[in-house]
Amino acid sequence: MLLGSSELANFDRDGFLIIRKLFSEEEVFILRKEAARIAQVEAECVIREGKSKTPKIMFRMHETDGPTGSKIYNATPRLPRILRPAIQLLQDDQLYLHHSKINLKSAIEGSVWPWHQDFGQWQLDGIKNPDLVTFMIMLDDATELGGCLYFQPASHKSGRIKPFWDETTPYKFLALPPDDVQRSLREGLAPVPITGKPGDTVIFHCNLLHASGQNLSPTDRWQVYFCFNRVSNHPSDVEQPRPDYVRSLNWSVMEAVDDTAIIQAEAIIS
Ligand code: SIN
Ligand code: MN
Repeated sequence: MLLGSSELANFDRDGFLIIRKLFSEEEVFILRKEAARIAQVEAECVIREGKSKTPKIMFRMHETDGPTGSKIYNATPRLPRILRPAIQLLQDDQLYLHHSKINLKSAIEGSVWPWHQDFGQWQLDGIKNPDLVTFMIMLDDATELGGCLYFQPASHKSGRIKPFWDETTPYKFLALPPDDVQRSLREGLAPVPITGKPGDTVIFHCNLLHASGQNLSPTDRWQVYFCFNRVSNHPSDVEQPRPDYVRSLNWSVMEAVDDTAIIQAEAIIS
């Protein structure tokens, strides 16, 4: 699959693009089953929350080694329908993943992600240019009650805003200072809820302002994220680098796999 010129123009204008039904029901079933398997792993890169101790976030499924490594999630970002649009958007065929993650925002307990820009952290990881794109795949219905993502359209055009260290949620990270969020929301476009069905996929720019609320619904909201960077834009050395499950040092160029690779990988495993 390739993006058309109007889709590329919309991505440039809004900072995001929604592609409905990019994954079949069978593929979503396999991805969900594999996510449930990884959620049982006890490792530093699986961060849990709530009484149920469900992972709020788990990282590094796209490698085949390590506690959360997965052949299925290694294949997913290499499918032509993902890798080719990533190459188009970054205008470079030498890409790797800065990281991958699955956010299991569990029913009732799944907590907020405060307003932030991903490049707020990634610049401090040593990445020079804000030229990364993230593909998010929905594994459940994403609803407003269930804590879907919200994007502020076109906010990526304003550039990076200096973040602060937010300790309010079980996964502590660099969020946007409340004053800057208020200014952006008052002066810019109204945020839009990113709702959808399992298999729907969203691509977004690393400077886009985004957030999501508590899951108040009786159902989980599982979402998978693959963050693409150009090999030429890989991080430089920084003092006290974050672990490689969030700041990958595997800059090997990603090669496309067959479009049926998720189903094939599942057949080999089971
Ligand atoms: C993120 O921005 O990294 C996570 C947001 C979400 O899963 O709602
Ligand atoms: Mn984010």
